Formats: sequence, C-alpha cells, structure tokens
Amino acid sequence: MAAVIDGSAMARALQDRTAREVEDITVRTGIAPGLAVILVGDDPASEVYVRRKVAECDRAGIRSIKHRLPETTTQSELLDLIAALNADTGVHGVLVQLPLPHQISPARVLDAIDPAKDVDGFHPVNVGRLSTGTGGLVPCTPLGCMMLLDSVIETYRGLNAVVIGKSNIVGKPVALLLLERECTVTVTHIATRGLADIVRTADIVVAAAGSPRLVRGDWVKPGAVVIDVGITRITEKGGRTRLVGDVAFDEIGHARAATPVPGGVGPMTIACLLSNTVRAAVNHERTETAAA
Ligand code: GUN
Repeated sequence: MAAVIDGSAMARALQDRTAREVEDITVRTGIAPGLAVILVGDDPASEVYVRRKVAECDRAGIRSIKHRLPETTTQSELLDLIAALNADTGVHGVLVQLPLPHQISPARVLDAIDPAKDVDGFHPVNVGRLSTGTGGLVPCTPLGCMMLLDSVIETYRGLNAVVIGKSNIVGKPVALLLLERECTVTVTHIATRGLADIVRTADIVVAAAGSPRLVRGDWVKPGAVVIDVGITRITEKGGRTRLVGDVAFDEIGHARAATPVPGGVGPMTIACLLSNTVRAAVNHERTETAAA
C-alpha cells in the first residue's frame, strides 16, 4: 500500500509554527503581521477561498484586512487601492484574489503589488527570483507541494519528475522548484503527446491539470511519489457531489506515497500563505532595522 501523505496534519503543524512566529513578532515589534486580501466581484468560489484565508489568518493572530470591491470596479480604482496598501507600513502582505472581472488586466494588477508584499509570489520580480534560484516569495501551492514531497523524499538529485500542467500558479513554479533540487523535470500540458508513457518514467509525479482521474494506475511507476493538486467537484448519480483529484488514487497502491484529495495539497496552500505573510513581515522588520 502506498503511504498516504497527510496534508491536513502537515498544514496544522505549519500553522501552529506560524502562530508561534506571529506571537514572537507581535511581542518584539508591537505590531502584528498584517495581510490585506482584495476580492473584486462575487465569484462564489473566490468568496469561499477568501473567507477561509481570512479565518485562518485570524486563528494564527495575523491581522487580516479584507477589501470587498464591486464587480464594476475599474482597473484604476483597484490600482489606487493597491498603491495605498503598498504604502501602508502596517500591511505586510497584499493578495488580490483571482480571477478578476474582464475589465481588469490581472498582469497589470499583479505588476502593481510591491514584490516585498507579494505573498502569492506572482509578481514578475518574484517569478524571476524563483527562476534564478535567488530567494523571493514562492507561490503558496507549489511551496506546499515541496513540503509534502520533503516529508517522504530525502534526496531529489537525479530523480525524474513529471509535472502535469503548465499554469503560472502551479505547474511552472513547481517545475522550477524541482529543477532547483536537481531533478530532471518534464512539464506536460494540453498539447503533450504520449502523456501516459511520459508519466511512466517519473519518480515524482505532480498532477495539476484540473482533469478528474486523468492519471491512471498503470501510468504510475512502482515506488513513485505522487502529489495530486487537482480538485474538481463532480456530481454523482443521485445528485450527491464529491471532490475528485487528477489521480485515480484507488489505482495507485503500488506508489511509494501519495497525497489524497481532499486532505492533501489543499490545506497546505493556506498554511503556506500564512507562512509567506510572516516571512514578508520579518523581511520588513529587517529592512527597517537596517535603515535605522
Ligand atoms: N485563484 C486561484 N488560486 C489562487 C491563488 O493561489 N491566489 C490568488 N490570489 N488567487 C487565486
């Protein structure tokens, strides 16, 4: 049987560690780390994500400041708010929930966030730092994937890693993190030919295609480690709904270890957002001390 990598337990441990760090910073500086979360419009999934992010911040002692803007918000109104948050020394992280309404360019908005406050790690400066292995804030889901892998893999050097999906949020940054650890990395996408045979070469599989049960048991090499980022709600016969990953989990008993859905990558994403916020606050404190 494949070992189940328990993302919920790992996320709890990381959140507890983050809460202790938050307390430490708050006592030391007199200011709690602050995260501004901006939600534009009323996308129901985004509302759920933002509510969860704010609730977890509160639990960890991070001061969360939620900004809800209407669907009709203009790009310049949003850019003005970001400029104000960039200038606010009590705000250490700024997160704009995606997707944005059509009249707003996500690239323009992400460019406007101060890279030092970019707790999502989406700003081109942080993307550049990740690609050159020179620090910066790392996107939350990829960071969570690496922590889950670290719990079962000691030496990455020379392992074959296959990343399914080339998104800016998951696929590309995960591939860069695996490359930094000297894996031989293959990134596949919608136009890839012979996906099953490529996955069969993998010691590490990271599935982030958003395609339920795409990865079948006979695609997975015995002893491989499988991280399932996919999470799709499907409706079963009878109308009941269920969350399904990109991997047919019941078919990969021959893997060394795998993450379940739910309870794998999902909980780690928010835990990493909180830890990125603390990192941003600590970096801010260091910069202030150096300038004094
Ligand atoms: N929408 C879907 N995933 C994300 C994420 O990781 N961050 C933000 N800001 N929006 C998202």
